[in-house]
Amino acid sequence: MTFNPLEQRGIPLDRQLRSWRELNVDPINPDAADPYTRCRIITMNGIETEAIFFGHHLARNCDDVQVKQQLARTRYIEAQQQKVVNWLLPGVSSVLETTIAYEQVAVDLTAWVARMEPDPYLKQAYEFGVLEDFDHLYRYANLYEMIEHRKAESIVDGLTEVMPGRPTPMHHRNPVDNVREPYDRTTVNPLSRLHALTVMAAEQQTMNFYMNTGPTYMEPIARQLYQEIGLIEEEHVTHYESLVDPGETWWEQLVNHEYNECYLYYSFMEQESDPKVKAIWELHLNMELEHLRVACDLMRRHDGREPEEILAPALPNVLTFEPNKAYLRELLETQMDLTTLGTGYVREAHERFEEMQERLHEGEAPPSERVMVQHEEMFGRDYREETEGPHPVDPQR
Ligand SMILES: [Fe+2]
Ligand SMILES: [Fe+2]
Ligand SMILES: [Fe+2]
Ligand SMILES: [Fe+2]
Repeated sequence: MTFNPLEQRGIPLDRQLRSWRELNVDPINPDAADPYTRCRIITMNGIETEAIFFGHHLARNCDDVQVKQQLARTRYIEAQQQKVVNWLLPGVSSVLETTIAYEQVAVDLTAWVARMEPDPYLKQAYEFGVLEDFDHLYRYANLYEMIEHRKAESIVDGLTEVMPGRPTPMHHRNPVDNVREPYDRTTVNPLSRLHALTVMAAEQQTMNFYMNTGPTYMEPIARQLYQEIGLIEEEHVTHYESLVDPGETWWEQLVNHEYNECYLYYSFMEQESDPKVKAIWELHLNMELEHLRVACDLMRRHDGREPEEILAPALPNVLTFEPNKAYLRELLETQMDLTTLGTGYVREAHERFEEMQERLHEGEAPPSERVMVQHEEMFGRDYREETEGPHPVDPQR
């Protein structure tokens, strides 16, 4: 990325407020839209939601009224951006259809980040996590065929394969084992900071989505599956947020958030095929450039440091939504049976893992297994979409 957000001028903050007319965006056409346009919308909704919540936490830790007022002004704009972005989704999709799109985001976003991540410990964290969301996609796709009688390929559109990953029942670890070691803020590659923030924000919104929409289903198996996977998303948020160095000051974190918003809007503007959506990415980029300038001023004032010390002068790659099929198949072959112990990874089930499994499952099949049994009873098979040939390791293929 030759684009340097620190050198660009954005839209002045007092010209960023939008009226109801401007907020009333046309949703994308659910039948004609590129599935990756929907993935970009979902990603940016997660990013804007994180911007809002981070801004609130910062304000709650800030005792200067003038600074709080400054934060409130920017945060209101973030809230308007979130409305515009998420309202691009068409109202016709069911919760389960949106869920399948969320897991597609988790798979292709995390896989891309894993491929590009320069730090091996951080890379391992993404490789570990992606195989779990890959399995969530498979379980939800089976639930979808069962209760809505439709196939997930109409949503993922052959871009992402749907087949077993690390089995969902195995994702329930002792919470202690979900905490990773953070990167070192003094030596970390600036790209790694952006990766960690992005994947954390995406997982957080998935967690929020399941905890709120899960009980809107009447079918017992659907309600139970959302509880189970909702709890795993809590584990994923713990896993990814612990990668960020807690030694970063509040102002440094604010700068990172705004910089990341610039990076992602720039990335998505570059690859967007829908002209109306592209115009929104461009507008929001121009807003974020000003948010970044404001955040940099706050950092200089409160930390007495230059933002250039922590930010990259230029970034090597724009974040891209694209198929990651071969990479995922390679991970399935090599990392399917991994679990965590402390801040590291092991292949064998250890005592703390077994104890958690016993207490949660009580010797019975969890919802993620029962959904497969019920599906098999109805259709005599499971649902999968293997576009590149048979599953590389699944024993029941
Ligand atoms: Fe924003
Ligand atoms: Fe997931
Ligand atoms: Fe997840
Ligand atoms: Fe922002």
